[in-house]
Amino acid sequence: MPTQPAIAATAQGLPDTRKTALVNLRCCEGLHLQWHEEPNLDLGALLSGKTGVGVLRYWRALAPHLDAPVALSPDQWRLLSALTVEGMALEIQEDTLEQALQGLLAHSLVRYAEPDAQDHGDTLAEHWWWPLAAVMHRMGRWQGVDSTHAAVQAEVLDMTAMVARHGPAPQPAPFDSTTLQPMPDVPPDRFDQLLAQRTTCRNFDTSRALPALLLGQMLQRTFAAHGHVQVANGPMLLKRNVPSGGGLHPIDAYLLVRHVDGVAPGLYRYAPLEHALQPLPEPPAGLQAFALQALSQQHWFADAHVLVMLVANFPRSFWKYRRHAKAYRVAILDAGHLSQLLYLAATQAGLGAFVTAAINEIDIEQALDLHPLADSPLAVCGFGWRSGLMTTTEFDPAAVLWQALSPGEQGQDRTD
Ligand SMILES: Cc1cc2nc3c(=O)[nH]c(=O)nc-3n(C[C@H](O)[C@H](O)[C@H](O)COP(=O)(O)O)c2cc1C
Repeated sequence: MPTQPAIAATAQGLPDTRKTALVNLRCCEGLHLQWHEEPNLDLGALLSGKTGVGVLRYWRALAPHLDAPVALSPDQWRLLSALTVEGMALEIQEDTLEQALQGLLAHSLVRYAEPDAQDHGDTLAEHWWWPLAAVMHRMGRWQGVDSTHAAVQAEVLDMTAMVARHGPAPQPAPFDSTTLQPMPDVPPDRFDQLLAQRTTCRNFDTSRALPALLLGQMLQRTFAAHGHVQVANGPMLLKRNVPSGGGLHPIDAYLLVRHVDGVAPGLYRYAPLEHALQPLPEPPAGLQAFALQALSQQHWFADAHVLVMLVANFPRSFWKYRRHAKAYRVAILDAGHLSQLLYLAATQAGLGAFVTAAINEIDIEQALDLHPLADSPLAVCGFGWRSGLMTTTEFDPAAVLWQALSPGEQGQDRTD
């Protein structure tokens, strides 16, 4: 739904002063209305012998400033409609209007504008978001989620149970073997060997520290700027070992150092031009609890010697790509490029690495003191020494990495 600048205050039966106030009422930026249906168990009906299973249907409001959708009463829906549809009569009594209005004001879905106030226009960075992406980003964030518990509940560990639950999985579209054109098979070289060893690590060796030199090498290869251009009064363009939409590199690396020789455990922000770590305050929960919280309790990753939170600084990209339908996607792709490079740099150094998007973004933002529409984590990576014992399953079907292990040593403790 578009955000309109003013209401046609034709509310029937309202005193003139009330109508005047309504004229200055505005919808919030980026308001979307969504029709919502959910199953509803009516205990009363159940007790009286009926099935008790019904459906709740209602409109709800989504907006970039909200962390969760807001259910709208019919009166609130009518009020929002009157605000946004030119000339629409507002058929509502004053007392019910007041109640509806207070609810909308409490969630900042509407606000009173100063008469003759200038619009912020494009000066506020949060207005540079493409509104659908802003809503998607904001509402897709987690807080306090235990993805391991939820996944076990949903039986996702057991693929056979999943097939029973969901039906057959989609298969790739078949190829026509009569027209398939074979491609040259090139003998593997050292780069292929490196690629073949890249395996998501879920088993870290907590008994030995990572040398600071290896941390430095990992950061230098993955996140450092190897060149830059500062446009006068404009953006800073970085040269990294990965591509980035517009060369803007909106992804910053925030580190949780767990076990590195000569670097105190704690939170840091990596400075890509200086190749240095900026210490940050310790999270109130403590480092171990925060690691688990950030990773939605995926304990197989929490032991990594270094965790790297890939935090997008959206204004850096959206200043150029204003209200651009592709800009958020580009930020996510940037994070993907960085994580792949981190995997390869780790593999080359004899380390294990991982990436996950099953993260509690809100908990991370709170620990790092970030605002979700300005700086927000898109994924968490990590790296460190591999353990020689596979307690949690890894995907290495050709046994390139784990061939020395007997099957009895391979565990199953994972839920993604
Ligand atoms: C974007 C992304 C998100 C992922 N999230 C998780 C996760 O939440 N938990 C996990 O154990 N592995 C996660 N993985 C790792 C995948 O499970 C892994 O890549 C896949 O099983 C293939 O194994 P491989 O990386 O060893 O080839 C993720 C990978 C990617 C690229």
